[in-house]
Amino acid sequence: MKTAAASSSYAFRTTNNKEYESDDRHLMPNNEQTTEQQAKRGVRKGNAKLIWRFLKGSKYLFLGSILASAVSSLADMLDPQIIRAAIDNAIGGKPSEFPVWVNDLVDRIGGFAYLGQHLWIMAAAILAVALLRVAASYCSTVIGTKASETLVKTMRDTLFGHIERLPFSWHMKNHTGDIIQRCTSDVDRVRRFVAEQLTSVLRISVYLVLSLYFMFSMNTGLTLISIVPLPFILLYSVLFRKQMDAGFRDCDENEGKVSAMVQENLTGVRVVRAFGREKAETDRFEKQNEYYTSLWVKMGRLLGRFFSTQDFLSGVQILLVFVFGAVFAIHDRMTPGEYVAFISYNSMLIRPIRMLGRMISEMSKAGVSIGRIGYIMDAEEEKDREGAGEAPMDRDIHFEHITFAYENCPDILHDISFDIKAGTTLGILGGTGSGKSTLMLLLDRMYDLEPGCGTIRIGDTDIRDIRSDYLRDNISMVLQEPFLFSRTISENIGIASEGITLEEIRSAAQAACLDDTVTKFTQSYDTFVGERGVTLSGGQKQRAAIARALTKNAPIMIFDDSLSAVDTETDAKIRSALQERFGTATIILISHRITTLSKADRIIVLENGRITEQGTPDELKSNGGIYQRIYEIQSGVREGRHITAPGTGGKEVAR
Ligand SMILES: Nc1ncnc2c1ncn2[C@@H]1O[C@H](COP(=O)(O)OP(=O)(O)O)[C@@H](O)[C@H]1O
Ligand SMILES: [Mg+2]
Repeated sequence: MKTAAASSSYAFRTTNNKEYESDDRHLMPNNEQTTEQQAKRGVRKGNAKLIWRFLKGSKYLFLGSILASAVSSLADMLDPQIIRAAIDNAIGGKPSEFPVWVNDLVDRIGGFAYLGQHLWIMAAAILAVALLRVAASYCSTVIGTKASETLVKTMRDTLFGHIERLPFSWHMKNHTGDIIQRCTSDVDRVRRFVAEQLTSVLRISVYLVLSLYFMFSMNTGLTLISIVPLPFILLYSVLFRKQMDAGFRDCDENEGKVSAMVQENLTGVRVVRAFGREKAETDRFEKQNEYYTSLWVKMGRLLGRFFSTQDFLSGVQILLVFVFGAVFAIHDRMTPGEYVAFISYNSMLIRPIRMLGRMISEMSKAGVSIGRIGYIMDAEEEKDREGAGEAPMDRDIHFEHITFAYENCPDILHDISFDIKAGTTLGILGGTGSGKSTLMLLLDRMYDLEPGCGTIRIGDTDIRDIRSDYLRDNISMVLQEPFLFSRTISENIGIASEGITLEEIRSAAQAACLDDTVTKFTQSYDTFVGERGVTLSGGQKQRAAIARALTKNAPIMIFDDSLSAVDTETDAKIRSALQERFGTATIILISHRITTLSKADRIIVLENGRITEQGTPDELKSNGGIYQRIYEIQSGVREGRHITAPGTGGKEVAR
């Protein structure tokens, strides 16, 4: 028997040539990607536009925070000037030159000599600057936090609203864990980018401009020397960016896969336990996790190289200024005060340049994140075609020449045509995978038919000309797999109908044979259903889902194998309650149980996406087809207690 690792479908190499194996082909860095894959990975245009859109509501707050931060940067720039004046003009004997307005100001106080005798005035000036800095930085933090939290809120709201409106097919295509990661970690990274990095870039620009201004004003030659290494430092950062982009994207993508795996395992915990898959799943997780870790370690090496080279280059620049400045000061080309101030400004200059490198790495991460969020935002919301409106729903339903395939899959339904008379019940029988649920999803317009692949009409109206919300409001569907939210039973049943009363909920539950069960619970209808409804049995969940559908009083009702988990007696009870409540509704019943189907007005039998039989139950009972065979097996005409019925996809049918 193959081990989990040995059964993997491909191997890939890391930089140290160690071979890892994985059964997920998406893990492999792939150069030949389709545009969709690229979009999914976060490679997209228009990132700035998207950020601008998210900034609605927080733009001015950010502006305020940036202004406050600029004031604080300006305060930083004043200290060296005060120190320079103290060293040169007040204490030392080599006065350095200040702009006229500074000299005027000092003269009004009493001149530099006076300041030299009253050094406390200089100290007071330093204190005043410090207070200004404290006030500005306080404002910047408070306003900045408000801005960044507003931004995150806008992003989350926009994303959630958008995801709610995305077509069902999009949800089927994308992993929940991955989407959640995009809405959490990626959103946070974009927040950090705007709130921290972008603000810092502006702050850095203020630093750069002001320090260069002061440096030039003191010594042009030394300033030029200090500038020479800067383009190299910057160029190095920019060149590194590309490598980092790819690296971070890989890391993010694989983080998404790790979360998706955890999420899937939590959702499928019953299957994992029931089949004793804990070890296999843990191995699978560890492999993915190890690969993910190896990507970050690789990233660490890359970043280590980057930062140390940066530090080395900045060290060289500082050394140049230190040495040349000293030489200039010795040769009287600058005063000692100017030298000290210059060194201060240079460190202020080099700090942002070094930060710029780090910033670029952070920014490239944010670029990937905004791209990954953009992948969600770019997905088109579900939209009705122009002119779509409302139409009477209590009419005959016509399926005409329906051919359908899921994306990138072979055809599942082949040229299917049948009619359902208004107010009658249609039964559908067919093996698993024959396309029954797909047909119902098409009627509910969860998927739209491609042009030329047939039409579904209600009365005379093509369902594509009916607004999807109106259509779905008028079709009450009990899905094959009932889903309950982690809310109370009454909330779960009433979720489909706004403003519903408890009486109505109970009446629906009675029809679904659930009321007796629920009233036995200590908290009755207020009983909290655990996550995914685990505190209810399969049959109870199905009945809750049926009750939910019954609250809608819709003219079209679909029961997709919805009575499979209830016993035959309850099945009969529910059907007769249905008959009573919805005498006029058009009902579609999908079932494997002949007793369920026998009361239908007409029945169609589906096999591999084609209709192989149709007629009334009486006609089909004796026409020698699948229906007859199953009828005979289930009614005991044929021998055998447990027989695998043909046409039910190997499903075991009890006699
Ligand atoms: N979202 C999907 N993407 C691709 N194939 C799908 C999807 N959903 C169902 N299928 C395939 O379509 C076929 C019909 O499925 P379905 O309509 O659910 O069958 P039934 O309800 O008759 O058991 C099956 O082969 C199934 O594997
Ligand atoms: Mg199905």
